[in-house]
Amino acid sequence: KNAGFRKLWSEADVVRTLPTRKRSSHKGTYGKGLVIGGSRNMTGAVTMTAKAALRSGAGLLTMAVPDDIYSVVATHVPEVMYYPCSSINGCFTGEIDFVHLDVDAIAVGPGMGRTAGTKSVVQKVLCQDVPVVLDADALYYWKDYVSIVRERKQATIVTPHPGEMARMINVSIRDLEKDRFAIAKQFAMDYGVYLVLKGPYTIVTTPNGKQYVNTTGNPALAKGGSGDVLTGIILAFMMQHADIQEAISNAVFVHGKAADVLIERGHSPLDVLATDVIEAIPQTLFHLY
Ligand code: APR
Ligand code: MG
Repeated sequence: KNAGFRKLWSEADVVRTLPTRKRSSHKGTYGKGLVIGGSRNMTGAVTMTAKAALRSGAGLLTMAVPDDIYSVVATHVPEVMYYPCSSINGCFTGEIDFVHLDVDAIAVGPGMGRTAGTKSVVQKVLCQDVPVVLDADALYYWKDYVSIVRERKQATIVTPHPGEMARMINVSIRDLEKDRFAIAKQFAMDYGVYLVLKGPYTIVTTPNGKQYVNTTGNPALAKGGSGDVLTGIILAFMMQHADIQEAISNAVFVHGKAADVLIERGHSPLDVLATDVIEAIPQTLFHLY
């Protein structure tokens, strides 16, 4: 059968493609990233996304969060700039003005909640001419975004877990799991997006239908917050790497490898927290450079 191009993305591929940091570089060399997310009930998700991006080489990072939770988030992440957005009931109202934001990559979704404000923010994000990562609650109104997504000139990266993916395309999780390669390929090519279909053996599919399979990671990642960490690593790697597929595949590899490193060095799969995975990024990268 014609399965098309499919490849395991190995450690050798990561080592070969990870960008080196030049001595003459400054923070601007590594891009300006924006993380948008959070709500009163979920202050940790967007915090972890930003911390993971910072641990993965992001040069300059701004966080846009509802003004209601701004002070809580800011206490936990001192390294970034802030853009507090107007809020209602602790969630985004939908107002966000990119004129005040000079950014060249955006990740949106973690902990935003599934409100009309979320939908409006995501629609505005997709109208920006920069690469965008859509995760978590930014995927909830997917069907309302598809026409904007098809018009985009810059990369769109979507990172659903199987439950989110199944909902986006109206199939059962069981039917999705039976045919995940073919469904992923059709989706990525149809909408012209990079699809990161998560789970054990995460599949990265390019808009051309090429597929890259990840083998790192373990059930220690089956825990709330793991996906938020991955989104931050993807954003940071995209800011530093011209090739989008390589940036995404490397991010997925490093995310899983960080969890594997923890299991090799004194953790059980039960006790690993998403924040531990962030703190294991340094040793993981050290080993790859
Ligand atoms: N083996 C390897 N990797 C795994 C395993 C496993 N058994 N289980 C999970 N992972 C990895 C996935 O590949 C993915 O990268 O952990 C990550 C989990 O991501 P999500 O499912 O998005 O988890 P989470 O962080 O809880 O998401 C946060 O967003 O998606 C919504 O509903 C979700 O509210 C939640 C929030
Ligand atoms: Mg998630």
